[in-house]
Amino acid sequence: MPDVVLLSGSASPHSRSTALLLHAQAWLAGRGLEATLLPLADLPALDLLHARYDSPAFAGPKALVAGARGLVVATPVYKASYTALLKAFLDILPQHGLDGKAVLPIANGGSPAHLLMIDFALKPVLSVLGATQLLQGVYAVDDQARVSPTGELWMHDELRERLVRGLEALEREVRSRAPGHAG
Ligand SMILES: Cc1cc2nc3c(=O)[nH]c(=O)nc-3n(C[C@H](O)[C@H](O)[C@H](O)COP(=O)(O)O)c2cc1C
Repeated sequence: MPDVVLLSGSASPHSRSTALLLHAQAWLAGRGLEATLLPLADLPALDLLHARYDSPAFAGPKALVAGARGLVVATPVYKASYTALLKAFLDILPQHGLDGKAVLPIANGGSPAHLLMIDFALKPVLSVLGATQLLQGVYAVDDQARVSPTGELWMHDELRERLVRGLEALEREVRSRAPGHAG
């Protein structure tokens, strides 16, 4: 079971949010923490849309989330909120599916106008699912992070520093939770 699960809420092929998660995954691996990427766009769309929480396709992802001590949840801003893809996945989790977990939210948007989306839209849902430690979110505007056609991420130093601070906070929270007692 991984220590941390990385939820990617973008369906874009050269997604900035997924690239930020891959960066987070490598950073966490360097600290000796196993982190597994869960690209939500790979899950069956109809099962998600119909909220078929008992779909066999969701058993593995749900078990990963249940077993993790921490999550990084990354989403692009769509219409001043997080993506429907991310919401559809959160909807199929059990009511207390994030009980006791630490969560680092990451959002990226075309402009800084919607940076409070993390606090006003995303965090309330994570909280309702039981996440006990909602860390300060990391917001990236498109100018600060670019992904090449081959998938390489360029990040502004200021964003890199904020992301590392967020990951350090997540690492502390994950280490304070005993392995095997995710909730
Ligand atoms: C359907 C759609 C809606 C969007 N709405 C917003 C928005 O309301 N505010 C904003 O700042 N950016 C908005 N954007 C821009 C994306 O959030 C931004 O380009 C983001 O970095 C894309 O992330 P991704 O590469 O991980 O998919 C929107 C993009 C799309 C495709």
